[in-house]
Amino acid sequence: MAFKIGLLGLGTVGTGTAKILCDRDGRHPLLQALTLHRVGVRSLNKSRNVDLPEHLLTDNLEAIVTDPEVDIVVELIGGLEPARSLILKAIAHGKHIVTANKAVISRYGSEIFDAASEKGVYVLLEAAVGGGIPVIQPLKESLGANRIHTVTGIVNGTTNYILTRMQAEGAPFDEVLKQAQELGYAEADPTADVDGLDAADKIAILASLAFGGRIKLDEVYCEGIRGVTATDIAYADRLGFTIKLLAIARRDPVATPDNDLLSVRVHPTLVPKLHPLASINGVNNAIVVEGEPIGQVMFFGPGAGAGPTASAVVSDILNIVAILTTRPPKADIPFTTHPLMSCTHQHYCNLAPMKDLTTRFYARFITRDLPGVIGNLGTCFGNHDVSLESIVQIDSHGELAEIVVVTHDVLEGNFHQALDELQQLDIVDRIPNLLRVL
Ligand code: HSE
Repeated sequence: MAFKIGLLGLGTVGTGTAKILCDRDGRHPLLQALTLHRVGVRSLNKSRNVDLPEHLLTDNLEAIVTDPEVDIVVELIGGLEPARSLILKAIAHGKHIVTANKAVISRYGSEIFDAASEKGVYVLLEAAVGGGIPVIQPLKESLGANRIHTVTGIVNGTTNYILTRMQAEGAPFDEVLKQAQELGYAEADPTADVDGLDAADKIAILASLAFGGRIKLDEVYCEGIRGVTATDIAYADRLGFTIKLLAIARRDPVATPDNDLLSVRVHPTLVPKLHPLASINGVNNAIVVEGEPIGQVMFFGPGAGAGPTASAVVSDILNIVAILTTRPPKADIPFTTHPLMSCTHQHYCNLAPMKDLTTRFYARFITRDLPGVIGNLGTCFGNHDVSLESIVQIDSHGELAEIVVVTHDVLEGNFHQALDELQQLDIVDRIPNLLRVL
């Protein structure tokens, strides 16, 4: 049996995918059942990094998603449109979909998965989160026996590269970002990465799989790394932490399976140096999943790049082909998708507002350098039920002192009330930064 692939996009990941599909020796024998049938590109006159017969290429992407001979459409053009419309049209024509497009899935997943269920086709997206790291399929299958409590990840390589260099060199954010752009590690427009939007897309997808419900992306709290300074990194280091941009999805401990309450968020976080995520450096990604009874597992590896991401894309293609090979659709029996491979949940998870989050905080204060200041801070926090784990004054600048506070677990709303009150005090000059602590 032969299966025909329609590939949309021949950029970095598309090229990596085509290379694997054209170089099968030593890989899984099921690859022999695949034919690269059409490849859709924006411009036919561009030089390519992969040797493909000219007749495969077309700039008519619609013709691929409606081609009766194509079995699986692999969408690697990225962006929202025309990717969304092409995916929906392909589904309407009965094609299975493999995509690396986290932006489309996190925004239009409901529409896409509803259409796919109706048509009995698969939409697989291993490459959308963590590049080459297998994490989607493990969440769907290998960890299915568990009640998942938390998914915590470093899911954006650009920001992890920037923070790693800031940590190693004591350099400011703007300088490291500029160098990262010159070296090609960061995009010319770095917004999606440094403002946390890319990580928010990814944690919305992971949360949906881990907790079995849909996630509204606009309810995911998202704070990027522009506000992280070399000073905070240095203080965190002295206190035993490394600052990472974490994407976190956590089930509220008091929620029941029928009444989920989740916290789903992206923000720079002080990670204890002994935590497995603290040592994930450079462009690498890692995702820690905690559940019962498994405990803690970590998935680590390259979060982007042609080869790693293509590895995830082709594994999805193979999964679909494996099922199609063993369960060929019969004309008179409706084809139903494999329950461990498809996304069938339809309800939306309830996301708790940030004020109800329980977390630890780090806050840096610039205060007047007078007797009793630390006592004033402690009293105000105490009045708002905020318990302090540590409070240190390391630096003074003339008449001003720099004081750093780390709290125990507190309600975020209470912490902000205390800060609002402290900001009114004469002794507090300013509060340059506050960050959450894992
Ligand atoms: N821009 C992403 C990152 C890679 O920096 O990790 C693609 O998801």
